[in-house]
Amino acid sequence: MSTKAPIRVAITGAAGQIGYSLIFRIAAGDVFGPDQPVALNLIEIEPAMGALSGVVMELNDCAFPLVSEIVPTSDMNVGFKDANWCLLVGSVPRKAGMERKDLLGINGKIFVGQGEAIAKNAAKDVRVLVVGNPCNTNAYICKHAAKGVPADRFFAMTRLDENRAKAQLAEKAGVHSSKVTNLAIWGNHSATQYPDFYNAKIDGKPALEVIGDEAWLKDTFIPTVQQRGAAIIKARGLSSAASAANGAIDTVRSLVTPTKPGDWFSVAVCSDGSYNTPKDLMISYPIRTNDGKTWEIVQGVPVNDYSRAKIDASCKELQEEANDVAELLK
Ligand code: NAD
Ligand code: LMR
Repeated sequence: MSTKAPIRVAITGAAGQIGYSLIFRIAAGDVFGPDQPVALNLIEIEPAMGALSGVVMELNDCAFPLVSEIVPTSDMNVGFKDANWCLLVGSVPRKAGMERKDLLGINGKIFVGQGEAIAKNAAKDVRVLVVGNPCNTNAYICKHAAKGVPADRFFAMTRLDENRAKAQLAEKAGVHSSKVTNLAIWGNHSATQYPDFYNAKIDGKPALEVIGDEAWLKDTFIPTVQQRGAAIIKARGLSSAASAANGAIDTVRSLVTPTKPGDWFSVAVCSDGSYNTPKDLMISYPIRTNDGKTWEIVQGVPVNDYSRAKIDASCKELQEEANDVAELLK
């Protein structure tokens, strides 16, 4: 057993689909590394506590060397107590035929109480990743409710979109997905998101040059990435879960590990107005970290007229979502 102090991770929706993959991978060391103990605060609503007790039994049955403590609870004050990371997954997923923003009326309010409980109970260095949809605007609500917690601690997940985009480009180019770098998702985790192929690289060369088919990139690649969540719901009858958990794991790992020189990753953060985007909204950009603690929006990424229009359309949608939840912000 490592002598390091554990990192405390609070996970909401712990008895749900994503939780069933996410918790076990964190426990196995996939996020914080093979010698970093983790304490797991597993948060559920009261009706799901029975199912959560089964998850806890299974966690115990794994005898994970890195797990120092498991705290199953339906009390947010207990669940967020001393948490260094809060992974906010718990919320209702959409069904076929819905857009993610159709969930705002059901899910938005969850993030008011959670933001308040995080501000009251979490560790001073807390960082919060929102996965539950619509994740950008839920994170925006949470950030506003968590009075006193700096805005740069809040994130919303667009890494699954980045990974999907990398997989599509790699398949088209006939290379392994690890050869695709500099893939930025701009905007909202929604059908308006902009997977930026103009700045993506394949084996260090511009993706456009390697693929050589701009029409395919615009007319097939972009809609495929934008609609991938819906395609999975149609095929599985349930929304993505293992790939979503993997996206959350990649996001946290990227935020705690120095980014390779010249590269970036995608996550939605509180806008400072970079790239002429509206301030305060949770917008996905190319992000990097030099020290695994602070992060920055990568500046100077070329934005041509086509990209500009796509980014503006996604930010417009985020502004509309923010207007729709104005009454939840105190
Ligand atoms: P699920 O229905 O299987 O599980 C959700 C769990 O959350 C349930 O166990 C439920 O009891 C719990 N829950 C509900 N309200 C809660 C609350 N207030 N506090 C704590 N727990 C609560 O759903 P899932 O498939 O795990 O998906 C969870 C969310 O993640 C959905 O909103 C889904 O749309 C979203 N999602 C986002 C991405 C992304 O890329 N950002 C990807 C996949 C799924
Ligand atoms: C996804 O992208 O798979 C998730 O956001 C789930 C959904 O509703 O599409």
